[in-house]
Amino acid sequence: MVKSMWVAAALAVAALSARAQAPGVAETVTKRCAMCHGEKGESMAEDFPRLAGQHEAYLVKELQDFRAGRREGPMVRMAKGLTDDDIAALAKYYAAQPAPPSAARTELHDVGRFVHLRGNPYSQIPACKVCHGENAHGSATLPRLAGQNAAYLERQLREFTQRKRTNDNEVMHVIAERLTPLEVRAVAEYLASLP
Ligand code: HEC
Ligand code: HEC
Repeated sequence: MVKSMWVAAALAVAALSARAQAPGVAETVTKRCAMCHGEKGESMAEDFPRLAGQHEAYLVKELQDFRAGRREGPMVRMAKGLTDDDIAALAKYYAAQPAPPSAARTELHDVGRFVHLRGNPYSQIPACKVCHGENAHGSATLPRLAGQNAAYLERQLREFTQRKRTNDNEVMHVIAERLTPLEVRAVAEYLASLP
């Protein structure tokens, strides 16, 4: 009798936690994110950012910025209705996925590498590595850029310049507006090729 009560209690707990997880992060990913970012954050197209291996705290911040409308664009609609718990679980999930293979090197590799490691001393552009790290892996709130899609990186840099990326009107805006289109393309291709 006692034993069967324990069994019943254990089953009830199992059922409860199963229910607490529904709609679990896997379901949200599949239904609401995977069509663009992929099941494992590998991204379905060049213009959609890869989320796999991105830092958890950065992902939380960006999702909160979208939800609050601080960062504008199509993601605002996607983030609508996500609770703080959803955001925490999604960020944790994508951060834990292994980074997908990076892009191949291109002929702009050395130009991009120079910008990343040295900036452009002739036009007062700081080296990207100062903040994003020499291997471009970033840190908690500084995004990982290594292995990110080049087209996405290029568009973000353009949108910082045009103040269309609205959640960072200071740091990246000042840096991006000094980069020439060639430097932008080169650094984007270089970063995309990093492991
Ligand atoms: C219809 C396509 C689409 C869907 C669905 C979608 N996203 Fe996005 N997501 C994008 C695009 C496009 C961007 C780039 C936004 C920009 O350019 O400002 C983005 C950006 C992001 C970013 C910022 C990444 C970075 O490096 O700054 C995060 C985080 C994100 N999405 C998470 C999610 C999550 C979580 C879901 C599901 C709840 C989701 N997205 C659903 C298209 C989509
Ligand atoms: C002084 C520090 C600093 C330097 C130097 C810097 N960045 Fe950033 N960068 C940031 C911060 C902070 C963010 C995150 C903004 C946010 O919160 O959304 C960022 C975001 C970005 C993003 C958006 C990433 C994403 O996933 O959406 C790109 C792309 C980027 N930086 C590229 C560069 C490049 C290229 C350089 C060098 C030319 C550079 N950064 C130099 C601080 C810096």
